[in-house]
Amino acid sequence: MSDATAIVAIDGPAGAGKSSVAKRAAKALGFAFLDTGAMYRAATWWALEQGVCLEDADALAESTRAMTLEIHEGDQGQQVLVNGTDVTQAIRTPEVTRVIYKLDQNSAVRRHLVALQQRFGARAPTVAEGRDIGTVVFPKAKCKIFMDASLETRAKRREKELAAKGVAVDFGRLCAEIHERDEQSRNRADSPLRMAEDAVLLDTTNLTLDEAVAEIVRLARERL
Ligand code: DC
Repeated sequence: MSDATAIVAIDGPAGAGKSSVAKRAAKALGFAFLDTGAMYRAATWWALEQGVCLEDADALAESTRAMTLEIHEGDQGQQVLVNGTDVTQAIRTPEVTRVIYKLDQNSAVRRHLVALQQRFGARAPTVAEGRDIGTVVFPKAKCKIFMDASLETRAKRREKELAAKGVAVDFGRLCAEIHERDEQSRNRADSPLRMAEDAVLLDTTNLTLDEAVAEIVRLARERL
């Protein structure tokens, strides 16, 4: 495992802005970027593709271990390949999001993906974002940030993202869905979402994207 000297660990709930902020901060720092949620999404996509029974925990772990997962950094951002197929877009469908908890609550699936994440971080200075980066994946990271924002703000951001894709949603329902995902992440037995004791809280409710990126870059330069 990496000695975590050059890891920026970013955790937080859905919609706090982790991905967009982490991606830009990585670029500014000249670090690699790792979206670990994409790995859980890829494992879920593959299980659905293979028709694995979602109630069979062993089969889900087996299919996760059997897939070849590649993460590349392209001009368009992080590209995800499963067994050679580009699934960058396919892993973002509501179908994947709806059942992903079956995999992210599976300890054997987590163990496998955490090992891959640690290997990724050992290769190069990395900004990694997820739910358990500072607590489980890189507990020795010197720069840990917990990004949060009010539920309403997070739902508004999501609404805007969906509107840009031409998808209209009921705002109340969106809030309820995000709240449910928060509860699932915070209350699961294995690696629940929580702020590491040595993490800095970054509340992005009233921050622009540029302000949040600047704060992460500042913290990284100060601590690494
Ligand atoms: O960040 P995201 O929405 O793409 O994450 C997808 C799912 O994966 C979400 O349900 C939480 C889970 N996840 C996790 O359990 N641990 C991580 N390190 C990253 C994501």
